Order: sequence, then C-alpha cells, then structure tokens
Amino acid sequence: MPLYNDNFHRTDISNCSFLITGGAGFIGSNIVEYLVHHGAGEVRIMDNLCEGKLENIADFIELPNVQFLELDITNESDCQTACANIDYVSHQAALGSVPRSIETPLATNAANVTGFLNLMTAAKDAGVKRFVYASSSSVYGDSPEMPKVESQIGDPLSPYAATKYTNEVYAGTFGRCYGLETVGLRYFNVYGPRQKPDGPYAAVIPLFMDALLKNQPPFINGDGEQSRDFTFVSNAVQANVRGMFTTTPGASRRAYNVAVGERVTVNQLFQAIKTLTGATVDAVYQDPREGDVKHSLADISLAEQYLDYQPNTQFERGLEITLDWFKKRFG
Ligand SMILES: NC(=O)c1ccc[n+]([C@@H]2O[C@H](COP(=O)([O-])OP(=O)(O)OC[C@H]3O[C@@H](n4cnc5c(N)ncnc54)[C@H](O)[C@@H]3O)[C@@H](O)[C@H]2O)c1
Repeated sequence: MPLYNDNFHRTDISNCSFLITGGAGFIGSNIVEYLVHHGAGEVRIMDNLCEGKLENIADFIELPNVQFLELDITNESDCQTACANIDYVSHQAALGSVPRSIETPLATNAANVTGFLNLMTAAKDAGVKRFVYASSSSVYGDSPEMPKVESQIGDPLSPYAATKYTNEVYAGTFGRCYGLETVGLRYFNVYGPRQKPDGPYAAVIPLFMDALLKNQPPFINGDGEQSRDFTFVSNAVQANVRGMFTTTPGASRRAYNVAVGERVTVNQLFQAIKTLTGATVDAVYQDPREGDVKHSLADISLAEQYLDYQPNTQFERGLEITLDWFKKRFG
C-alpha cells in the first residue's frame, strides 16, 4: 500500500517547484515520494551522496518532473544552481548523529551550519516562498522539562545539537533581516522505510531490526530505560508539507516539535521488534552513550495549532510498515 495516499496540502501543487536537499537520504526521499505521488510540478533533489543513496530515489529519478543534482551545500554556487526557479525548499541535507559530531565537529559544522547558511542565502536570493528545514529534538539539550515545549530549551549536549540550534537562530535572523519565510522542524527520533541499518552512525530502530531479523543480539546503551518519542517518517513528511503550505497567521519563523507525543523506552522497543520478528535472542547491554539525553517526549500542540499537524501513524503500525520494508530490502 502506498505510504502517501493522505493529502497534507490543500492547494494544487502541479504548478509548484520544490527543492529537497538531502533528497537521496532517508527523510528527504520520503518527502520526494510524497510530492511525486501527489503530482508536484517539479521536484529537484540536491544531494552529494555522502550518506544518501541513488537507490532511495530510483523509483522517481527517471520521471520527467524529477531532477537529481549531485551537488554540495557547502559550495555556494551549487546552492545557487539548486535554488534557481524554486518555489518551496525543504532542507534536509546535514550530517546527522550525535556521536559523529563529537568525533568530527568541524565536518558537522561545515555541512550543518555553513551548508545551511549557503542554502538559506541562495533560497532568499532566489525569492523562494518558504524555506522549511530540519532541526532536531537535540536542541532541548540538558533541559529537564517534560514534555518538551518549544519555548524552553536547555544547553546543547553535543556539537550536532549546537549546529541545529544555530540553524534556528539563523532562520529567525533571516526572517527579521530579509523577510524570509521559514519553518523549522524539531524531529524526534524519526524511523521508517529507507533508514540505513549499516554504518557507524545507524539509528536504533534499523539496528534492532537488522540484528533481530538475523536472530542476532543487538546492543542496548545503558539500562534501556531511556525513552524516546519515536516518530514514523510519514509524520515528518506531513510536517514538511504542512510547513510549506500553512497560511495560519504567525506560523512562519517558528520551530515546531515533530513527534507523536508518546514515549517508549528502548527496552520496550526491543521487545516490540523481537515479537514482530519472532527472534529468540536477548539484547546485550553496554555503557551509556556520551551526549545522549535520558528521556525525550514532545508536546506537539504548537504544530497542531499552526501547521494543522496530526500524526497519523502510531508506533506499532509504523514498526510493522518499517519491518515489511526491511524484509523486502534486506530479507
Ligand atoms: N532521522 C532522525 O531521527 C532525525 C532526527 C532529528 C533531525 N534529523 C535531521 O533530519 C535531516 C534528514 O535526516 P535523515 O535521517 O534523513 O539523514 P540522512 O543522512 O539519511 O539524510 C541526509 C542527506 O543529506 C545528504 N548530505 C549530507 N551532507 C551534504 C552536503 N554537504 N551536501 C549535500 N547533501 C548532503 C546526505 O548524503 C544524505 O542523503 C537531517 O538534517 C538530520 O539532521 C533527523
């Protein structure tokens, strides 16, 4: 069943042009899939393929309204090329992962701050209608408040978190200086089809699925009682689309929590995937990971109010869809 039958926009998009940076990556390729499925006029994908894969966009790349540019956001003129004649930008390109940013803060800063600024400047110069961008729940840092409310953040716990916070500061500044319309999306642990299980910075759900489908024991960092607001990717796609098209007064120049509003511990996640896969192994516990927060849970009322965002795929269903994809892709 196609993931994106639901309509998250109310206007005709057949005359609109979209730039999806990081569009060969996990979340970006899902945004591309939505736009193609709903008859977008032009969908331009910009990705340097450092993490993304052409196979993620193989179903779309030959379509006449889809264009793939293997370009780099750290290069100013690449960003100008990518933004020419674009109406809406969804900026997903970045180097993810807290541990990577602790190991290589300069590389993370180059992509996530310099790259962000290059792209937002090019978007502003090209006169785009709205610039939607991926922020992160990591901006809540050491704030003990639960659930997380947009107005109360703490100090960043990693270079990655610092870059995402910097993005929000720049987006607000571009609004005030140049009148650029921006919408920031603070994703909370997104998972779903096309998320990579391999590589040193893989996320917990693909790692667990990959291991348990092979009946091998996955690692759990710490005691497993840390919790997350796991968010199925269609909910993140919905937030992007609604962010591009919302006409609610005051919706622009804010950053919104994008989550489900429910928290699940890593131990519960392990048990759920173990049951779905029929695996018989137990997890192996190891030391907690540097820079990780203990608990994460979002208050999603701001996104409901301004973006009309309603998460439409809950945890168990999202896991089933993701596991089906994993079995087809890696089974
Ligand atoms: N997945 C999550 O749970 C999560 C949570 C919070 C925030 N985010 C943010 O969401 C966005 C998308 O994340 P994702 O999970 O899809 O990651 P991803 O790694 O699958 O996608 C990012 C894409 O950006 C591309 N990219 C990286 N540097 C680039 C550069 N210099 N020029 C051009 N392209 C470049 C990569 O090749 C990749 O395809 C990122 O900004 C990430 O920080 C993700």
